[in-house]
Amino acid sequence: MDSVIKVSNLKKYYKVHQKDPGLLGSLRSLFRREYFEVKAVDNISFEIDQGELIGFIGPNGAGKTTTLKVLSGLLYPSSGSVRVLGYEPFKRQSEFQRQFSLVMGQKNQLWWDLPAFESFILNKEIYGVPDDIFKKTVTELSQMLDIEDVLKVQVRKLSLGQRMKAELVAALLHRPKVLFLDEPTIGLDVLAQKKMRDFIKEYNQKYKSTIILTSHYMGDVKELCKRVIIIDRGMILYDGSLSAIVEKFAPFKVINVDFEVAPDLDRLKKIGKLVKYEDLHAEIEVHREKAAKLAGSLLSDFPVADLTIEEPAMEDIIRDVFNKSNLLTEV
Ligand SMILES: Nc1ncnc2c1ncn2[C@@H]1O[C@H](COP(=O)(O)OP(=O)(O)OP(=O)(O)O)[C@@H](O)[C@H]1O
Ligand SMILES: [Mg+2]
Repeated sequence: MDSVIKVSNLKKYYKVHQKDPGLLGSLRSLFRREYFEVKAVDNISFEIDQGELIGFIGPNGAGKTTTLKVLSGLLYPSSGSVRVLGYEPFKRQSEFQRQFSLVMGQKNQLWWDLPAFESFILNKEIYGVPDDIFKKTVTELSQMLDIEDVLKVQVRKLSLGQRMKAELVAALLHRPKVLFLDEPTIGLDVLAQKKMRDFIKEYNQKYKSTIILTSHYMGDVKELCKRVIIIDRGMILYDGSLSAIVEKFAPFKVINVDFEVAPDLDRLKKIGKLVKYEDLHAEIEVHREKAAKLAGSLLSDFPVADLTIEEPAMEDIIRDVFNKSNLLTEV
């Protein structure tokens, strides 16, 4: 099967005008313009198959939004090739425009002074959605997202969560095959985040749509994505299954132990790396292959009340990956 999205050696460099501060700087720059380049996306390649839901993650300024804008045809690539559903996005052919959607959590795409429903009607006309499908889709999606009651309320009066849900309905009215979600859960409370996640999951399973999701919340990614692409400074650091990140970047597990009485700390440190010890509770990092054996030694040699072996937190691992990449590139 052909990939739905195919990106090869994509680069997107922004040319930024440099200006000295103050009025004098402004005047000077009128006569002598100086530019520098920002390498927002610097030679990335990946392919995505139909129905995949990919987590596209990375720190601020990594190049995520830029990549999604190139995939949506809002930006022209500096070099490399991009195909989405076989189309070159920057040509903006209407058959292509009808088959994808870009939703940005930080940007309002609905009309601020109109009720969301009016914006839906506008989109219906733009995309030529037939009446019956329009009615069916609006009812179904707004039920799934639990916003039927607020569709006739002016958008400016909606809460952030309600507005984001309405944004999503507007973006899905034409049943796009490909969906780019740029931080759709940003700023939402825990409940609204969960609702949004459940919806994205259900929508992906039901319609087999291909989705790229960016988020700074690891919860979103853990819940929704089997595969993740990690990008930093415009370059891909990792592309693979979420579960394998743990093995690749964190070759350890964490043993959590509660003691009945205070243990001999010097002896405890011989078991593994003692990350924390407080109030008879210890966290010890050990090599993942040795975890079971070392837990056995703890149980037989120490006054243990309770013990669990856990995977390190995904947030910590990702943070580690970024820190290490900083070390690698800053030398
Ligand atoms: N229009 C622009 N002109 C110049 N530089 C830009 C422009 N847009 C983005 N950049 C720069 O390109 C780099 C990548 O930005 P981008 O918005 O793609 O990052 P991001 O991964 O989406 O970050 P965030 O997590 O903060 O949303 C950054 O260094 C940013 O400052
Ligand atoms: Mg962004």
